[in-house]
Amino acid sequence: MQFVFNDTTADDFDSCGSILRMSTFNVTPITTGYGFPVTCKTASLTAGPRGPMLLQDAIFLDEITHFDRERIPERVVHAKGGGAFGYFECLYDITNFTKAVVFSEIGKKTEVFVRFSTVGGESGSADTVRDPRGFSIKFYTEQGIWDLVCNDTPVFFIRDPMLFPSFIHTQKRNPITHLKDMDMFWDFLSLRPESTYQVLILFSDKGIPDGFRFMDGFGGHTFKLVNAVGEAFWCKFHFKSDQGIRNLTVEEAERLAGTDPDYSIRDLYNAIDAGDYPKWTMYIQVMTLEEAKSYRWNVFDVTKIWLETDYPLIPVGRLVLDRNPTNYFRQVEQAAFAPSRMIPGVEPSPDKMLQGRLFSYGDTQRHRLGPNFLQLSVNKPPDVTIMNQQRDGKMNYYNQDGAPNYFPNSFGGSQQCVNTDTTPFEINDTVDRYESGDEDNFSQARIFYLNELDGAQRGRLIDNLANSLKNAKEFIWKRAVNNFAQVDREMGKILENKIRELLA
Ligand code: HEM
Repeated sequence: MQFVFNDTTADDFDSCGSILRMSTFNVTPITTGYGFPVTCKTASLTAGPRGPMLLQDAIFLDEITHFDRERIPERVVHAKGGGAFGYFECLYDITNFTKAVVFSEIGKKTEVFVRFSTVGGESGSADTVRDPRGFSIKFYTEQGIWDLVCNDTPVFFIRDPMLFPSFIHTQKRNPITHLKDMDMFWDFLSLRPESTYQVLILFSDKGIPDGFRFMDGFGGHTFKLVNAVGEAFWCKFHFKSDQGIRNLTVEEAERLAGTDPDYSIRDLYNAIDAGDYPKWTMYIQVMTLEEAKSYRWNVFDVTKIWLETDYPLIPVGRLVLDRNPTNYFRQVEQAAFAPSRMIPGVEPSPDKMLQGRLFSYGDTQRHRLGPNFLQLSVNKPPDVTIMNQQRDGKMNYYNQDGAPNYFPNSFGGSQQCVNTDTTPFEINDTVDRYESGDEDNFSQARIFYLNELDGAQRGRLIDNLANSLKNAKEFIWKRAVNNFAQVDREMGKILENKIRELLA
């Protein structure tokens, strides 16, 4: 990675650090933020060589006041990440399921930006931790932005969004010590056994992917697809890595956390820089609305998958990342993804976790980036002219000039509403708060543990769990073991013995 600039030598600079031979280097003069040509960038304005400084040093003030405001709030989750641009190419006809323009014809390419991340750590934390990975995809379509905000696992820890802030607090730092705290971590997870399936995946080999290129992406929730004649289907989105799946061992991950904490960001950048473009094949699973009513699991529960033997993967196309960002802050840090940003042909399902997310992302982005974050180039659909009656707010640079700022009006501007609303659907149920903590928490975890892992993988999973659980208080690890015993009684026994052995 290098700056885009010419080669210079010490002789090319004057004592203030300015380039002497400007014409040779084709450079523009240094200016303040407001365009004033800076005379000297290495000395502040002082009364005498030893100071004090003068408040009239507008160049210094311009420099330091901007610097003082350089950090914006990091994402409250998924703060550490890297991203790249690329495209999605539709390779199969799925127009019988959806009218979404991304899939309108075979061979159609749509520009994308993808951001990968860890979840719990701060922006400076190590990439090789045991944590789910985020896999957010922004499609720049002619009908606006479609954000598919995925993780590298098909399920999630909780099934009611009310629990999300508490869940995340337990994955972060203890408010007293500011340390990661295994009591908090396991207390919450063991009190919410709906997390069991996701926890098993997290503590399996898949819990530490080898960078961002060797992992899959999953939309997680059930979404609704709608075709051109208004027929609706439930759908799950999958992205399978063409590079294959590769994970780090615990030892390798710990070593890299010390020697190369930015391992995954570096790996992605270098691969793309070298022309080794990472690719994923997109698949969907599709279920009719009628089938969903009698499927053996609640299809709107994000702690559950649809078995591929019940609903096989249907290939859709290819996601390719072939362009690195040219400025990390502008394109990666300021990128804003939200599950609520969909295009006609893709709609939400009633999944309450998804419904909670529909609100949360835009809300945090108005706080993190300001009310006009959708005007930033990485967040804006390049082929759509934004026309509405929204105006003003901090940092507005696209204010629609003289177009009327009210609707309806008699003076032009945006006038026409196009029929792209969600398909009508009926809701006829009793409003209440429905506890969902005890809805079949173990059957899919059992399928994962017994049918998807071989003996060696199960052994490593138990070792990883024991090594973490031993750091929690006894009553907490016992409660967690009791949950795992409901996945498989034998597993519970082996895990308990392992923890006792480690604590002895
Ligand atoms: C109720 C549940 C959830 C809530 C309230 C929630 C909330 C949030 C918030 C506030 C952010 C920060 C966004 C930003 O600053 O731009 C975020 C980021 C993210 N979330 Fe969630 N989340 C939830 C569940 C999930 C699930 C189930 C997935 C995966 C299927 C997921 C994947 C992600 C990813 C990948 C990011 C990073 C986006 C980026 O790269 O900028 N989240 N989430």
